[in-house]
Amino acid sequence: MSKLGFNTALALQAGLATEKAAIGASYLIGRGDEKAADQAAVDALRTSLNAMEIKGRIVIGEGERDEAPMLYIGEEVGKGKGPEVDIALDPLEGTTLTAKAMANALAVMAFAPRGGLLYAPDTYMDKIAIGPGYKAGLIDLDNSVEDNVSALAKAKGVKPEDITVCVLDRARHSPIIDALRGMNAKVSLITDGDVQGVIATTDKDTQIDMYIGQGGAPEGVLAAAALRCIGGQMQGRLHFRNDDEVKRARRVGIDNLDQKYDISSLAAGPTIFAATGVTHGSMLDGVMFSNGQVHTHTLIMNSMDGAVQKLRSARPI
Ligand code: FBP
Repeated sequence: MSKLGFNTALALQAGLATEKAAIGASYLIGRGDEKAADQAAVDALRTSLNAMEIKGRIVIGEGERDEAPMLYIGEEVGKGKGPEVDIALDPLEGTTLTAKAMANALAVMAFAPRGGLLYAPDTYMDKIAIGPGYKAGLIDLDNSVEDNVSALAKAKGVKPEDITVCVLDRARHSPIIDALRGMNAKVSLITDGDVQGVIATTDKDTQIDMYIGQGGAPEGVLAAAALRCIGGQMQGRLHFRNDDEVKRARRVGIDNLDQKYDISSLAAGPTIFAATGVTHGSMLDGVMFSNGQVHTHTLIMNSMDGAVQKLRSARPI
């Protein structure tokens, strides 16, 4: 075991666990039942986590204890021996995508040593992200959409109309979309799944240059964990819709409600990230069944050695 146990073996186990979650959810693809699909992924992921030699604690999970019977925030998982691991997970990122057999549903999880992940409440987060290779501070959540896109275009040596920005297709994002249209930038609208939207900025195959918009705060931490491993820039700020959400934030120890988080405050120190495709997507293929075998496609990243692997597995059903 390396210091802290955040080694290749642990990263592979994380990948195996998201693989099981994806397979579990895959039986529900296209069946119009979001809850059943989520539950299948939860059951499979929990079984895998409990078989691992870790002292695991869920810090981002299916919700608070009173609203989630399994993988709730604070739940201890693993065999109770091995490295102490804080776990952020979304067993099925894209429940609607799965229920409707649409692209880009994932099973996602991140590991960090105790205290390494922001304990994000289940609220919204304003997010902006770009891929690796740019000078620090090139983009900023507090700058206008126009300034951020122009800065990225200049750094890339292209025009703003050559920049593609991924945005969740929501009415609340009209001002962002209008600003992008106003400068003739390309807008890639997604119906769900902004973990994939953020990570897409790091993957040249997706042609996505930037992610902007408001999505789940837990998904923000998961995406930051991935960028922590692969590089790139991201900022996020919690967005509260009511007093209950403010209380949730205070309960997880957040005092400064306006804080602007960067990657190192969302995911600090050694981080492992794993995601398996449930439905086919631009980054990962979905679960497929053929000739008595189940095929999966999994992304595994480890910030300790900078390794980024995409693994294809085939197992007997
Ligand atoms: P589910 O996995 O619960 O379906 O959430 C998917 C998602 O699209 C996230 O990727 C995103 O952060 C969030 O929902 C956006 O929330 P909303 O649908 O309320 O805009």
